[in-house]
Order: sequence, then structure tokens, then C-alpha cells
Amino acid sequence: MKRTTLASIDVGTTKVCTTIADVTSDGGIRVVGVGVTPSRGLHKGLVVNINEAGESIRESVRKAQQASATRIESAYVGVTGRHVSSLNNRGVVAITRNDRLVRPDDLRRVLECARSIKVPNDRKLLHVIPRGYAVDGQVGVKNPVGMHGFRLDVETHIITAATTSVQNLVKCIRGIGIDIDDLILEPLASSEAVLTEDEKQVGVILADIGGGTTDIAVFKEGSIWHTSILPVAGYQLTRDVAIGLGLPFDVAEEMKKRYGSVMPVYESKVETNPAISQDGHGVSYQDLCDIIRARMEEIMRLILLEMPRADYETLVPAGLVLTGGSANLSGIEALGRDVLRLPVRVGVPTNMYGITDSLRDPAYATSVGLLLWGAKNEGAHTWRSVGFATRLRRLLFRMRKLFV
Ligand SMILES: Nc1ncnc2c1ncn2[C@@H]1O[C@H](COP(=O)(O)OP(=O)(O)OP(=O)(O)O)[C@@H](O)[C@H]1O
Ligand SMILES: [Mg+2]
Repeated sequence: MKRTTLASIDVGTTKVCTTIADVTSDGGIRVVGVGVTPSRGLHKGLVVNINEAGESIRESVRKAQQASATRIESAYVGVTGRHVSSLNNRGVVAITRNDRLVRPDDLRRVLECARSIKVPNDRKLLHVIPRGYAVDGQVGVKNPVGMHGFRLDVETHIITAATTSVQNLVKCIRGIGIDIDDLILEPLASSEAVLTEDEKQVGVILADIGGGTTDIAVFKEGSIWHTSILPVAGYQLTRDVAIGLGLPFDVAEEMKKRYGSVMPVYESKVETNPAISQDGHGVSYQDLCDIIRARMEEIMRLILLEMPRADYETLVPAGLVLTGGSANLSGIEALGRDVLRLPVRVGVPTNMYGITDSLRDPAYATSVGLLLWGAKNEGAHTWRSVGFATRLRRLLFRMRKLFV
């Protein structure tokens, strides 16, 4: 049975965000509670201290539950980190029945075949996403059910993650009594929240530049084409500012967020070079922006290097959509257009109702996307984890019903 209330937990390097939402009758989401806390115990998207990370998650869940006056038992959870890798794989099956009609069961079989790659023990399958089907060699079929043919092929995008990294995240969340509905790669979630069907069709890059990682997803012909995670993002921008200008990290972070800009040089030429100050530390505005721009330009070039093909202009004519907190830097779209020579826009999640003011920021694309993914895929989980406590609770509940 489909549930009507869902929750998501985005355990980021900078913040943990829990959201609770009702699923509307048209499959949309109405947000009823949001809880954000600064994250501790994480480095570059990975849990490095289970107790600290668990406490941050607990606090964020508590805030969201309080705001919505509901309790959550489980949530959709985002996964990121350099340990994630992806590949494209094919599956083929024969349609042997007399009528040669493709049925849902054949789809299940062909996907099963595509996912039967050898995954090493230390890796876990996160997603097997069908990119397109072919019936008797006729490619580009989105839904082959009901077609006739002898042979059914599927192209899939397979995403795997290091078992230990996933286990640490799962342990933190289960440790506070929350089960996991599904684990979702973060750039896939972000893309649910900000990309249009047209962009995915013609070809687009989504880059979520957060605190610890830049998460990349490339879409083409309506489906996922490529995913990768870079271990550089907003944290490195702040560290460059701190080192370059001799500032404490906290002051550099505040200055970056308050005054930082990556306006390309020709646009940012100011007549005067004002001095700016924060907590008694003064620096030149031009120096601050030069440092941030240099690192952001490098991140953009790294995104291009991650493209699976050198002729990226033909692969992704719809350009680049930026999410993550660092996409708030002023001038980022112009800088992106300068580097890529393609359209660039900042993706702000808008596809939702309810208490959404705080979520209308590129930093919350992952959280909103996790909810939208959940609303779309309820019941079709690749990965489901139910803790011992929950299993016991459910067993006791069933036993009580037997006797009452
Ligand atoms: N207005 C702003 N200008 C510049 N940078 C900003 C601004 N607001 C937030 N940031 C930066 O965005 C980063 C946090 O982004 P986000 O909340 O998307 O990260 P996260 O999800 O916690 O981390 P990750 O996804 O990398 O694990 C921080 O480095 C922060 O300095
Ligand atoms: Mg993030």
C-alpha cells in the first residue's frame, strides 16, 4: 500500500536536512516539516565519526518532527562520496511465448539479466536504472510492454558504492531508530528537483556543488547517461580564502558567503577596490573574489573533464544546471557560460507545496529531490533496510493482533 507521508534525510558535509511531506493525489509533495542542523562527523560526504554524525541526524529529525507534529519511522536517504562508481551495461532476453508479446515479467527478467554483473564483495549495488529498451533491434523504445518481438534488450546505468561507507551511513540512521526506505545517489535526487524533461531529453549536466563534494549527473535522451562525484566543493573555496588572505576558517566562510562573487573579470572591474571587514579582519574585495573565482573556475573545468566524451557540446547542448549551496555565489552562471560556452543556470527546487520557503534554495535540491524520488518510486525499492528494533516491534504488533 502506498503511504501518504514520506520523509527524506540528506546527510551533507555541511548540514543535515530532514524533510517530511505528504504525497498529494497527483503525485506531488506538500512539505509539512523541515529540520536543518550543521553536520558533524562527516568529511567529503562520508561519515567519519558515527556518534557525532548520529547526533546531528537525530537533532535534524527531531526538528522536522516537531515542526510537522508527526513522527517518522523511515526515510529516503542520499548517498554521495568518491567511493561511488557507475557503468552502463546491457541485458538481453528471448521472448519465448507463442504470441511473442512483451509482458511486465519480461521487463523484470531483462533487468535482472542486466544487473547480474559481478559486483565485488566490498561494493553494493545502489541503482540499476533502465535507460532504454530495444525490441528485435529497434532501439529507443521507452516502454516495450505490449509490443511483439523475439528479443528484448535493455541498456542500464548501474551505480555501485563501497559497502563500508554505506554501512556507516545506515548505522547512523538506524542508530536513532529510523529505517531506510531507499538509498539514492544524491545527484540523481537533485536532478528530480530541478531538471526539466526537455533538458534531460536534449542532454544536460547537473552539478551539485555542496560543501564537501561536487556531484555530477549527465542526462541524455531522457535518461541518465553518466554519474560521478568530485571531492572538491565549497569547503575548498573557504580554505583557499583562509590561507590566501590569512584569515581564520570561520571568518573566511562568512566573508565568502557575504561578499564572495565569481563575476568574470571583465564584469567585475570596479573603479575602487573597497576594503571589507568581518569580525575585525579586513581584506580587499578584489583579492577575495579573485581567489574564489580561480577555484570555482577550476571546479567547472573538472566537471568538464568528468564528461564521458570530449565533444561535450553535442552531448549536452542544454548545458549545465547548478545546485548545492555553492551555486549561491553571485556571478556563477556567467562564469559557467565563460568556461563551458553553453547555457548555465542555477536550479532552485520549486516543484512542491506547503512550508517551502526555506527549501527554495539550490542547497536543498537534494532534500526535495529525495522526496520526489520517493513519491515516484514508492514500493519499488532497490535497497530497503529494516532495523532489528523495527522487526521486533512489527512482530509484537502482529502477535498482539492474534490474541486481541
Ligand atoms: N551564499 C553563498 N555563497 C557562497 N557559498 C555558499 C553560500 N551559501 C552556502 N554556501 C556554501 O555552500 C556549501 C554548503 O552547500 P550544501 O548545503 O549544498 O552542502 P552539503 O549538502 O552539506 O554538502 P555535500 O553535499 O558536499 O556533502 C558550503 O561550503 C557553504 O560555504
Ligand atoms: Mg549536498
